[in-house]
Amino acid sequence: MASYDYVTHNYDAIVIGAGGSGLRATLGLAEQGLKTACVTKVFPTRSHTVAAQGGIAASLGNMGPDHWQWHLYDTVKGSDWLGDLDAMEYLAREAPKAVYELDHYGVPFSRTEEGKIYQRPFGGHTTEFGEGPPVQRTCAAADRTGHAILHTLYGQSLKQGAEFFIEYFAIDLLMSDDGQCQGVVAWCLEDGSIHVFNAKMTVLATGGYGRAYFSATSAHTCTGDGGGMVARAGLPLQDMEFVQFHPTGIYGAGCLITEGARGEGGYLTNSEGERFMERYAPTYKDLASRDVVSRCMTMEIREGRGVGKDGDHIHLHLNHLPAEALAERLPGISESARIFAGVDVTKEPIPVLPTVHYNMGGIPTNYWGEVLNPTEGNPDRVVPGLMAVGEAGCASVHGANRLGSNSLIDLVVFGRAAAIKAGEVVDRGAAPAAVNTGQVDKALDRFDGLRHAKGGTPTAELRLEMQKAMQDDAAVFRTDKTLAQGVDRMYKVAEKMDDLQVTDRSLIWNTDLMETLELTNLMPNALATIVSAEARKESRGAHAHEDYPDRDDENWRVHTLARINGKVELDYRPVHVDPLIGHNEGGIDLDKIKPKARVY
Ligand code: FUM
Repeated sequence: MASYDYVTHNYDAIVIGAGGSGLRATLGLAEQGLKTACVTKVFPTRSHTVAAQGGIAASLGNMGPDHWQWHLYDTVKGSDWLGDLDAMEYLAREAPKAVYELDHYGVPFSRTEEGKIYQRPFGGHTTEFGEGPPVQRTCAAADRTGHAILHTLYGQSLKQGAEFFIEYFAIDLLMSDDGQCQGVVAWCLEDGSIHVFNAKMTVLATGGYGRAYFSATSAHTCTGDGGGMVARAGLPLQDMEFVQFHPTGIYGAGCLITEGARGEGGYLTNSEGERFMERYAPTYKDLASRDVVSRCMTMEIREGRGVGKDGDHIHLHLNHLPAEALAERLPGISESARIFAGVDVTKEPIPVLPTVHYNMGGIPTNYWGEVLNPTEGNPDRVVPGLMAVGEAGCASVHGANRLGSNSLIDLVVFGRAAAIKAGEVVDRGAAPAAVNTGQVDKALDRFDGLRHAKGGTPTAELRLEMQKAMQDDAAVFRTDKTLAQGVDRMYKVAEKMDDLQVTDRSLIWNTDLMETLELTNLMPNALATIVSAEARKESRGAHAHEDYPDRDDENWRVHTLARINGKVELDYRPVHVDPLIGHNEGGIDLDKIKPKARVY
């Protein structure tokens, strides 16, 4: 057995991850006087939320009429009727409050002439239950909205006395025999020390797993660490087959060009100079939902109308927009286009390609962020002491496809909700539980095994194999053949985890070991994705199955659950179709959001 000394910390609540949802949860917990720590592998303001550009959706109605029920309708339709209605309703109703809170905390939103928060159009956001024109619902701080939010929330969390453990890597959850979460074991990257965080509530806010793919807008740190820990604890992951491709990643580099660019009047063209979105989505055109736009771009390329010498990408035009507007509203992407594509956006189009951007799936939760471990007869069974928020979680508010700018609002609405719930369920007066030494030893044995791994396959090599398999076989369009091939390929890749080679045995800033631990987290996420995708015999949202081109509500309006036990074992749970408040009490008319064909 591995022998490591460790430092024990006792907290009411710990939050793993310091992106938008992690910081919003940390702030909410600390504000209520709970003894709170945030444990994060990167400096908080370097978390991936910092890269969020276009904005945060809320029906403030600052630029024209809007209503939370229109936002709910758009979210339901965007999800392709797979989202849980209670969670979607909570999101749409609470969004304005959550944005005004951010404003009061000090987020420097862009302003209208009258001093109101500026809002821009984004794909799939409409008026009048999809019957009216696009709505300006996305609140923006130029095209650096995530940056503005993250810095504000970090400052506010410090002000409330939350403690931060920065550059600490969470190794594994501590789970009691009766299935309660009691905290995590973590490794301090800076001095190599090991820490046990004994906590009454653990909130996973570890972000997505975009780096399971070869080309992603996600930071290299987006390695699905929460999902990995949950899978190792024998808990399920949900709806992992739904991976979002953002239409406008810079060709070759993969960096994001915000959908706000199209919101501000940008448009896409093919090799014939045609604005092809007019053909596919006659009403909302370039502002159709992003899964739709990504598919249309892919079809144009496949049919020989891509641009560039290999005809393998598409052009995004901003060059018709006034230079002053670009400088004011889109300064960040103007700079990214110059650096990563060598393009002056005032003069030339940007070469773009659909690029992996977001994971709709994740750790199943209810709308309070409580993690679920469904059993036969109880699909909503809560795991005591464990929550998941943000991209790590699956509430499920985005269903099969997320609307742009619904991610930042998800982070703050559900980060806040988790803090509220934790404030209710955590017994502040209770003495800390005894440290679960058996679980600590198990986590440290795994850690030590990886640290001394002497196989023949370097981590970076195996990671690349995984990324290529996922990119090829769990792509924008899928077929029975590509998915079966992907499952086979991914199982073979995963088998090589037993042959990993780590060359650095030190404990201080050992990036070889850290990337290996990250790979152990990416792998279950990737496996769950491809196996869940292979099993789903329909097309819905981001899961575009060419052998089953239609949505099949009768058989497939269900959430997929994937448990990893060597192989991936699948199960399903029902979608929540009941609203939180009835129509007579001011809630939505269910007739308005009945499943129907999804056209834009
Ligand atoms: O296009 C963007 O600015 C991305 C926004 C989002 O993913 O919500």
